Amino acid sequence: MPAGPLQIRRQDGALILTIQREERRNALDLATLQAFGDVFRHHLSGEDRAVVVTGSGSSAFCAGADLKERREMNLDQVRAQLLRYRSDLGWLATCPIPTIAAINGAALGGGLELALLCDLRVAVATATFALPETGLGIIPAAGGTQYLPRIVGAAKARELILLGTRIDAAEALRIGLIHRIVPGGTVPGRTVATRTAATGTVPDRTALEEQTASELVEDTLRWLEPVTRGAPLAQRAALRALRAADRLDLDAGLEFERGCYEACLVSEDRLEALAAFAEKRRPVFKGR
Ligand code: COA
Repeated sequence: MPAGPLQIRRQDGALILTIQREERRNALDLATLQAFGDVFRHHLSGEDRAVVVTGSGSSAFCAGADLKERREMNLDQVRAQLLRYRSDLGWLATCPIPTIAAINGAALGGGLELALLCDLRVAVATATFALPETGLGIIPAAGGTQYLPRIVGAAKARELILLGTRIDAAEALRIGLIHRIVPGGTVPGRTVATRTAATGTVPDRTALEEQTASELVEDTLRWLEPVTRGAPLAQRAALRALRAADRLDLDAGLEFERGCYEACLVSEDRLEALAAFAEKRRPVFKGR
């Protein structure tokens, strides 16, 4: 794939997007936003089973808006940029397949909002999270005020947005902001990560230097296997139903769920799963 602010590659059924602006801590400038939009417009394929978004380097997943670029913009340019968050990043929240943020460092401002657009969030133990916008005289404008309360609840969202509190990965896990801290293993970084998840202490950053971005992605892909190897139609139907729960009342939601089931009911994959269960073997799903 062409070099640019976003590296695009495929591995184990997932489309992996890596922001390549480590020198600006993967901050979102116009070109990066456009590159995200282009993924949806040109690169996402029917074969992809999940989208993983991550950042380069070990310092930041994404430091939010590119504040150096922003300083040079007039009001109309800023307004246009805000619309781009919707048009170029918003697809992550409505994408037909699950989207996952693999958070390799600080997720701040628009960087955290980028993660909030995703269905799932995993992080290294040194990751930090904040929406510092009100301290900068603005508010979160890539959906943060809407998605955060839906994910962590109204009270915690008020605290994080009004105070701009920066939290670590252990706290993010505790409040349900992330699903998982990359667990321990044999490399030093992973050992520390495990201790952190268990004790809630902030680890020494240097001890985690060996926990490379690729290890984070490898771990994420292993965790995602039930998604990338599961029944495609069921995955998509479940996602549609789950997202509907954010906007529908209970009665309408239950009706919507029934409609989503229908797509699975008439599928070959459902029959294959029943046959595989009877034959005590793994099902082979074809997405039909
Ligand atoms: N926009 C543009 N450039 C940014 C940036 C941003 N949002 N965040 C960091 N950078 C740049 C810095 O200006 C610095 O550039 P320089 O080398 O030319 O001075 C470079 O990235 C490294 O930043 P530094 O702060 O030294 O890196 P760090 O690894 O010590 O800390 C962060 C990383 C992300 C924790 C820290 O840079 C930070 O807090 N950034 C601000 C994030 C923010 O407030 N975002 C909110 C947007 S609403």
